[in-house]
Amino acid sequence: MGTASDIKLIDEKGIRLDGRSLSELRPIKIETDVLERADGSAYIEWGGNKIMVAVYGPREAYPKHTQDIDKAVIKARYNMAAFSVDERKRPGPDRRSVEISKVISEALQCAIMVEQFPRAQIDVYIEVLQADAGTRIAGLTAASVAVAAAGIPMRDLVVGCTAGKVDGKIVLDLGKEEDNFGQADLPMGILAKSGKIVLMQMDGDLTTEEFDEATAMIYDAAKRINDIQREALAGKYRALAMERGGE
Ligand code: CDP
Repeated sequence: MGTASDIKLIDEKGIRLDGRSLSELRPIKIETDVLERADGSAYIEWGGNKIMVAVYGPREAYPKHTQDIDKAVIKARYNMAAFSVDERKRPGPDRRSVEISKVISEALQCAIMVEQFPRAQIDVYIEVLQADAGTRIAGLTAASVAVAAAGIPMRDLVVGCTAGKVDGKIVLDLGKEEDNFGQADLPMGILAKSGKIVLMQMDGDLTTEEFDEATAMIYDAAKRINDIQREALAGKYRALAMERGGE
């Protein structure tokens, strides 16, 4: 979060730098089955973010000491390509990617019926090809679709979204400048049907009222994002049905 007070991110009419209103999402597109060798895959474009997700498993957890006799272990790995950001990102894991991998693994763990696969692991590779703020929630949204596309039983889809505070106003889905120079950023992961929160982090400060306003905005947007997820999965099954019909 920057402090540059001379940068105006929202105009008098409540319009943001990229032309959006305060509660407007950036454009989101999701496609499934983009990788042949993965058990499930999804590609998401969310504003300027471009992220590929590949899912493998469930398969026997390895090394063996990572096995859980009661349930499958979710191993999500979030990785940013060296060319995904303005300044070259040094390849390999860093503190940030280890943290994001952990919170995404935990969020997915709540949505997947892990108890059906004791001693197994499910690998979820999240590769950020182009980053433009909100990569963790875009990655989580796509990961959830990729897991469903792999045919892994799930209780619910996870929807990721952020809201935050910019120029003193609560806004949905922060863009890059808003993320850099805004006052707060609240990424959340929500189970689509139950509304249960499975990921919540916060950068910056919000009052209780602002937090409630931001959360309400996220819940409202989650319905729209979930429709896009479901449409991507429906597209997969329509294509399958057509293949079968043509046999
Ligand atoms: O991407 P997300 O908002 O989930 O995480 P963040 O740590 O708040 O990062 C915000 C944005 O900063 C990223 O989406 C990237 O666009 C950018 N970033 C960067 O330019 N270089 C990095 N090494 C990490 C992040």
